[in-house]
Amino acid sequence: MGMRRKLCFTLLLLSVLVLSASLTLANTPQLKSCRGQCKEEFKDRQKKQCLQKCEDDYRQNRRENSYMNEINEPGSDQGQEEDENPYVFESHHFLSKVKTDHGRILSIPKFDRRSKLLRGIRRYRVAILQLNPETVFTPTHFDASCILFVSSGQGTINEIHEDRRDSFKLEKGVLFRLRAGTTFSIVNHHQREKLNIIQLLRTVNNEGQFEPFFLAAGSNPESFFTTFSSEILEAALKTSKGELQRLFSRREQGQGVFVKASKEQIRALSDREESGGIWPFRSQSRGTFRLFKQHSTQSNNFGKLYEADHDDYPPLEEENLSVSYANISRNAMVSPYYNGEATKIAVVTDGDGYFEMACPHVSKSWDGEQQQQEGRSGVTYHKIRSAIKTGSVFIVPAGHPVVMVSSNRGNLEIVCFEVNAKHNVRYMLAGKKNLVKKMEGEEKELTFDAKREVVDQVFGNQDEEFFLQGPKWRQQPGRGRAYE
Ligand SMILES: *[C@@H]1O[C@H](CO)[C@@H](O)[C@H](O)[C@H]1NC(C)=O
Ligand SMILES: *[C@@H]1O[C@H](CO)[C@@H](O)[C@H](O)[C@H]1NC(C)=O
Repeated sequence: MGMRRKLCFTLLLLSVLVLSASLTLANTPQLKSCRGQCKEEFKDRQKKQCLQKCEDDYRQNRRENSYMNEINEPGSDQGQEEDENPYVFESHHFLSKVKTDHGRILSIPKFDRRSKLLRGIRRYRVAILQLNPETVFTPTHFDASCILFVSSGQGTINEIHEDRRDSFKLEKGVLFRLRAGTTFSIVNHHQREKLNIIQLLRTVNNEGQFEPFFLAAGSNPESFFTTFSSEILEAALKTSKGELQRLFSRREQGQGVFVKASKEQIRALSDREESGGIWPFRSQSRGTFRLFKQHSTQSNNFGKLYEADHDDYPPLEEENLSVSYANISRNAMVSPYYNGEATKIAVVTDGDGYFEMACPHVSKSWDGEQQQQEGRSGVTYHKIRSAIKTGSVFIVPAGHPVVMVSSNRGNLEIVCFEVNAKHNVRYMLAGKKNLVKKMEGEEKELTFDAKREVVDQVFGNQDEEFFLQGPKWRQQPGRGRAYE
């Protein structure tokens, strides 16, 4: 009797534990957002798989995150709640659109689903396309226009138009614009290296909603062809059901959209001459742009910046974008600055470090009102601070002062897509050409309630521009202190 009671109690305890565990799981915003996305983007079996993956990823990430906190830069605001910082996306936020043994397409969720603060860029999405060595991504189109940036590897991209077919070489640092709906294929002809492509998509149908349309025969994913009734296809193609089945059921168990190719096939596909040409030698709106072949626009010991705007690569004008690549040296930083009109969507391609941003929006709803009643200003700035590493995506809205710092482990490399870039101006807050230096003497005195010489001493010290020594650099013996 006593034994049975004990057993009952244990069972009760267990079920309470399980229940509370699943409740905490259900309540995190990150998991909610992932689930919401599954419900929106998938049906039936795929939806179930997607939901399962949300939970698996979430559990996995809780484990990884506790590790990440340990390696955070010292002095960081540890334990900053995720909902307080909607500006950073880590690997666990990525949703898998397609995943096979030979490649995958991942995307981060819709921006306005993550937070209302990201409404301004809700038409855009970030996706990653990854191809394994000697693999072909078979012809596909997206219902979104898209800027591709090759972050590593090499290959060929082919555009198939009604009247012609263009091929362009891909290598690290290449930019390429794909118009919405253009059918394209990609070949990774390297024997060992993966081809990694970062995509910024501008959606054209539903804001923020984009889908790939796969032409390839296969079951993972399906070809859009096979959704038509067979009598339609038979009539449209003037063929028989048998022929259709032979063609479209070949890869029933097979590879789908990413196909491993033989060495001969790869050679045949990559030996083709580049037909569209490299801008500016051919037609203005066709072709690729090699960002790293340009002169860097900022360069010193602490980093290098490469930039492309619509004058460099005309397709960027239509997309209202500019693209830049910051290669920040070890223990260095990008000087504090803000963008006048552009919102930055940044993807870390290599290294690690952190960024800090002044944000008036998060975490003030209650405090802000409270302070206003007491007659104080309702504006308070919250410090957004977050570790970033290869694969992190972060957003810097227009007007928000920001700084990016590399770690002591090596360079921090970041590709930045600046949305609404056309008339954007970058306002530096430190460095040789900072804003304060351009103020009138009286302005300085009134602004800082200090003598202008004192202001000049603080804001006139830094001789470098854009890339500066980071906080750690200055702490190294025999290095930074010599400047003081
Ligand atoms: C960034 O700088 C490092 C060190 O100078 C260099 O090894 C690396 O190739 C650079 N990255 C790019 C993409 O140029
Ligand atoms: C591009 O930017 C300008 C302002 O710089 C803005 O007025 C316009 O609406 C933007 N166009 C698109 C397509 O986003």
